[in-house]
Amino acid sequence: SSSTVYEATASAPVNIAVIKYWGKRDTKLILPINSSLSVTLDQDHLRSTTTSRADPSFEHDQLWLNGKEDEIKAGGRLATCISEMKRLRKELVEDKDPNAPKLSSYKVHIASYNNFPTAAGLASSASGFAALVASLAHLYQLTVSPSVLSLIARQGSGSACRSLFGGFVAWQMGSDPAGTDSLAVEVAPREHWPDMHALICVVSDDKKGTSSTSGMQRTVETSALLQHRIKHVVPERMQLISKAILEKDFDTFARITMADSNQFHAVALDTEPPIFYMNDVSRAIIALIVEFNRLSIANGQGHKAAYTYDAGPNAVIYALEKDIKQIVQLIVSYFPQRPSEFKDVLGLFGTASSDI
Ligand code: PMV
Repeated sequence: SSSTVYEATASAPVNIAVIKYWGKRDTKLILPINSSLSVTLDQDHLRSTTTSRADPSFEHDQLWLNGKEDEIKAGGRLATCISEMKRLRKELVEDKDPNAPKLSSYKVHIASYNNFPTAAGLASSASGFAALVASLAHLYQLTVSPSVLSLIARQGSGSACRSLFGGFVAWQMGSDPAGTDSLAVEVAPREHWPDMHALICVVSDDKKGTSSTSGMQRTVETSALLQHRIKHVVPERMQLISKAILEKDFDTFARITMADSNQFHAVALDTEPPIFYMNDVSRAIIALIVEFNRLSIANGQGHKAAYTYDAGPNAVIYALEKDIKQIVQLIVSYFPQRPSEFKDVLGLFGTASSDI
């Protein structure tokens, strides 16, 4: 009836890559030049929650981010995700069931909120596009797998495809020029390794200097190191870190995670002109973790902490539950006098987050 309200809400958490995605082979479809692997944070920490509504009275598709309207540019990434979801609604529901309401022909209003400060310099596009796609999937009553939804979230922001799954997630680069096999798959669910934790160290809340889109493009155009990385480094690391996760081998997981963060930032430096994402505080945290690991290796305990940095100065430190307290104390004791540069340490991971 005309009074029916068509509305749905979904949440998706942020994910933090341990094998970094950097470089596109197709900028329109957002197809990557290498596979990547990440850990999705738990629902109760950094997440986006998105409500979508379809109504015949709406005149335009409209989107509000944290209460403020954002433009949906024609042909842009938001418009692509919305139209792809409408296409799925039509093909999978309306074309099969003549009685299904024609929601694909209605405009949508979408409201999205982050439960963390948007200005905190933490990537919100991954959780944002994943929550958008998940909420439209609920609204349109699509019974499709998270991998199918990841094909659409990928076209909003590449890394968003990995937030459709909780736990340990690979984005397989695929080989189809149309992108039909460039999707996210689960490596292991969150519950597989419950004592894996992540600490987020907010070093700076400045807006990043070089966006991932323009940085990647410049690196693809100018870096010889990137060509070595995608051919000779990433494929083996994907295999080895997947195995380390399945075997809960933290020492190997930590070594590969830090090596891949280092190579991503080396590739940024190898770009013309060079890109610097880390700052002095980021590098001081690396030195601290290296020293902490040196002592635990000397004690025969292997690596106990792994740092990783994305396209900005904030550190994410992976560690096992038993070591978290010591690591938090260590970091806080070295940076107590710099509240403006070291804003917060959040303990993450507690419960499963695979229910979007
Ligand atoms: O999805 P984008 O365009 O925000 O790119 C993400 C790039 C990194 O965060 C640096 C790496 C990654 O795999 O998430």
